Amino acid sequence: MAIDPTSPVPKYSQLRDLLLDWIVDTGLSVDDPIPSERELGQRYGLSRMTVRQTVDLLVSEGKLYRVPGKGTFVARPKIEMALALASFTEDMRARGFRPGAQDLVRRVLPASGGTARAMGLEPETPVHHIERLRTADGEPMAVERSSIPLDLAPGLDGHSLAGRSLYAVLEQEYGIILDSGDQTIEAGVCDPADAKLLGLPQGSPVLSMRRRSFANGRCVELATSRYRADRYTLHSRLDPRR
Ligand code: GLP
Repeated sequence: MAIDPTSPVPKYSQLRDLLLDWIVDTGLSVDDPIPSERELGQRYGLSRMTVRQTVDLLVSEGKLYRVPGKGTFVARPKIEMALALASFTEDMRARGFRPGAQDLVRRVLPASGGTARAMGLEPETPVHHIERLRTADGEPMAVERSSIPLDLAPGLDGHSLAGRSLYAVLEQEYGIILDSGDQTIEAGVCDPADAKLLGLPQGSPVLSMRRRSFANGRCVELATSRYRADRYTLHSRLDPRR
């Protein structure tokens, strides 16, 4: 395939699609180099500026990465996260990764006004405040902050959650089986603290999720999670229109 100069689709965008097809067709895999911008310009009859624009786009989409002085390489595919009431552990295992968790903060605190409202609690009801760094194959993936009413899980603060699934602990130790939930997802950027934990430059894009999970009509967990946007994509099945 070649660039179509008569197409209304901008050339950098045509080149994006051509390059992605070419990567698949030639069987390039993760960490393989792609041709230099000069070579690509010659091959497709495009200026260096247009090629640069395409490569910048593919880098920002997380499909390629640059190593200064070395070249441009095929990036790892992003992890597809299902929009379901799954735990991080289940989600990562289903995708062939080894899930992990580091306990960052474990405290019992009075629920703030916003947390209490969102969870249907009286203001200042004691909640477990849990902050964890989630990893996949040892690589930082997300920072998760959860609130869980103390009365639902007394003594949870005594359980280490390092390397463990919170949902499994809730189920096994407290008999809590989550049966429904809701979730809001928006774009965000790493603040300095999250950037440090995730090993990303400050201001890097993240997917910011706020999930409430329920069991028997009671809100068990209110969680805000910040997932690195360079490694995650969201996937949802679309049911037919009614
Ligand atoms: C997801 C949810 C969190 C929840 C976590 C539990 O990541 N966004 O709200 O706390 O799963 O995962 P695990 O059971 O692996 O600790």
